[in-house]
Amino acid sequence: MFSRPSFQLAIGLLATGSSVAAGPCDIYASGNAPCVAAHSTTRALYSAYTGSLYQIQRGSDSTTTIIKPVSAGSVANAAAQDTFCASTTCVITIIYDQSGHGNHLTQAPPGGAATGPQANGYDNLASAIGAPVTLNGKKAYGVFISPGTGYRNDATSGVAKLDAAEGMYAVLDGTHYNDACCFDYGNAETSNTDTGNGHMEAIYFGNNTIWGTGSGSGPWVMADLENGLFSGYSAAENAADPTVTYRFLTAVVKGEPDHWAIRGANAASGSLSTYYSGVRPDVSGYNPMSKEGAILLGIGGDNSDGSQGTFYEGVLTSGYPSDATESSVQANIVAAKYAATSLTSGPAVTVGSSITFKATTPGYTTDYLAHNSTNIILEVVTSSSSTTLQQQATWTVVTGLGNSACVSFESKDTPGSYIRHFNFVLLINVNDGTKQFHEDATFCPQTALNGDGSSIRSWSYPTRYIRHFSEVGYIASNGGPETFDSTTSFNNDVSWVIGTGFS
Ligand SMILES: *[C@@H]1O[C@H](CO)[C@@H](O)[C@H](O)[C@H]1NC(C)=O
Ligand SMILES: *[C@@H]1O[C@H](CO)[C@@H](O)[C@H](O)[C@H]1NC(C)=O
Repeated sequence: MFSRPSFQLAIGLLATGSSVAAGPCDIYASGNAPCVAAHSTTRALYSAYTGSLYQIQRGSDSTTTIIKPVSAGSVANAAAQDTFCASTTCVITIIYDQSGHGNHLTQAPPGGAATGPQANGYDNLASAIGAPVTLNGKKAYGVFISPGTGYRNDATSGVAKLDAAEGMYAVLDGTHYNDACCFDYGNAETSNTDTGNGHMEAIYFGNNTIWGTGSGSGPWVMADLENGLFSGYSAAENAADPTVTYRFLTAVVKGEPDHWAIRGANAASGSLSTYYSGVRPDVSGYNPMSKEGAILLGIGGDNSDGSQGTFYEGVLTSGYPSDATESSVQANIVAAKYAATSLTSGPAVTVGSSITFKATTPGYTTDYLAHNSTNIILEVVTSSSSTTLQQQATWTVVTGLGNSACVSFESKDTPGSYIRHFNFVLLINVNDGTKQFHEDATFCPQTALNGDGSSIRSWSYPTRYIRHFSEVGYIASNGGPETFDSTTSFNNDVSWVIGTGFS
């Protein structure tokens, strides 16, 4: 059932001077804790792996394609994605399991706590372009999980069940999180419902404070063991579990009978630290564990889907990896050289400039995005319009309030108020200084989907773009569950010519 070449072959290649170094799963295998699931949209996790990394689907014709490594063991072929997705939208439909166990992740079904936003109750799929990075200078894309987005496999093979030993790690964006439940990656219920204490063993990242916390104000790496995010022995504060905000974060959770651990590191340098290593929580249900062996990403075991975060790569192993094995894996991750890259493209949208957004949809090309008292709407504006109207259609570009690699748009006539989305409707609101507002007001311009100017992607919901629909402003996805997500005229409605501000 295993189509990939054996680890011995990989070692053989190394011995004969191949430049392909052992991958994380080669290292786990040599440490007697082989990967039973290996997920990454950025790179192969075995030195010899040439198979599927992930599948994407594009909005223009709903066709799919599979993205593979450029060569054995290498970074993903991001150029193939860019070509396939040119002038349209793309979502990640499948994250393949590289381990040979067939434990692929697909769109998560509805669960006990939450029905997903899609009409059939499933969660949303992630944009294929929300989390661009480079690995050793080569472009790749991670999985940007917005609230409502999740992946799952409820029928796995080889994943730890009951109290069996397992390990896991994930490389995440330590700056992308929230306090909702639960941005998880790991072992969960096969029923998408909460079946009780000890039925999960997953990495959690965020600043949820309902159960455990670490030191400082978060975010923290914790373990979702079901009905509790644990930072250590009890679901309370473990001061040894630090606040971690590395742009690239290695998070580790592992468990074996009456023992488990949380570890973490900067994925771009240095080594792992142990945040907890000790006995299981002394609460009924956690010792022994009742792991069920489903795998999830971006959601809680009962499909709680309010959280956000970014996933680049991760694995589950069979067997409890030693700290030494994990040290070698961390060294491999550091050597992959994850680095941030530009979130924008297309015509420059320069911080400090005064701009207008002119619609490009046929029949609306004299219309501009303007505000009335609270909404963002389309208005016909000309050089002879009133100063009031001209100013309502003029915006000052500022550094992105929620991410400095993108931008925010401050109202010309109401300084201190910005374009933000709220329930996907565009509003003009006073900046209240909260993380939520900052993120809702952050947009990443890219080359227009219709080729005419710029399309303005929501930073926090990268499947969604500033769109006019019935002459009102929204952030809309191409064929999502909302009426304003209509695919009809989508590319034109999300494409804007950015011009110099009036007055
Ligand atoms: C999580 O962090 C954000 C940003 O610092 C903060 O606004 C929010 O209140 C925190 N949540 C909790 C539950 O502490
Ligand atoms: C502003 O625009 C919205 C959307 O069209 C509309 O519902 C609202 O009544 C308008 N408000 C004012 C004060 O014109």
